Amino acid sequence: MPASAPILNKHIDRILVDQKSIADRVRELAREITENHPDPSEPVVILCVLNGSIIFLADLIRHLPIRMMLGVIGASSYRGKETVSQGASIWHRLHTPIELTGQHVLIVDDILDSGNTLRLVRRTVEEQNPKSVATAVLLRKPDKAPPDVQAEYIGFDIEDAFVVGYGLDYAGEFRNLPHIAVLKSECYADADGD
Ligand code: IMP
Ligand code: MG
Repeated sequence: MPASAPILNKHIDRILVDQKSIADRVRELAREITENHPDPSEPVVILCVLNGSIIFLADLIRHLPIRMMLGVIGASSYRGKETVSQGASIWHRLHTPIELTGQHVLIVDDILDSGNTLRLVRRTVEEQNPKSVATAVLLRKPDKAPPDVQAEYIGFDIEDAFVVGYGLDYAGEFRNLPHIAVLKSECYADADGD
């Protein structure tokens, strides 16, 4: 445990998903994705929804023994210290030379909450006429995810709490926690005045 760990840990109220559970589930998801690959002779464009999914993506793709290319798209529905979705917007378009037209696309995001982000990202992808589209999310808040926005691959269903860690942030921080955690209420309460 690094000497600085208490600095982050003192903000944590509880751990919802520990490191080992995440690692095990990511491996299982990779197996499911590999088994369901529409055509193993063709590559999949894995589209990372920045920023929250980068750690999930990095772990996931190292368990995927398939042909793949990587693209990124910047989309978010939370700004700064907000913990309630503000309506999604795309802030960074694909900047890779990768064409989605005629490709198999796997969108990878950190969490399916209100669904605004994934609805927008999926529509943006579908406008480019890919051959197939699927979505993988590490987390889902099931009571909130609307019926029209579903993910084919879901790591964990979690309670409706604002979580941080393993890529997810609060006001830009805590992405480097190795587990999924809920912060102490006073950390979020700070945000109300912001
Ligand atoms: P949605 O558009 O409400 O589904 O939210 C999706 C995006 O909001 C995610 O990709 C996250 O970046 C962010 N988000 C939603 N819930 C949380 C949370 O509990 N903690 C941190 N970020 C979240
Ligand atoms: Mg995100």
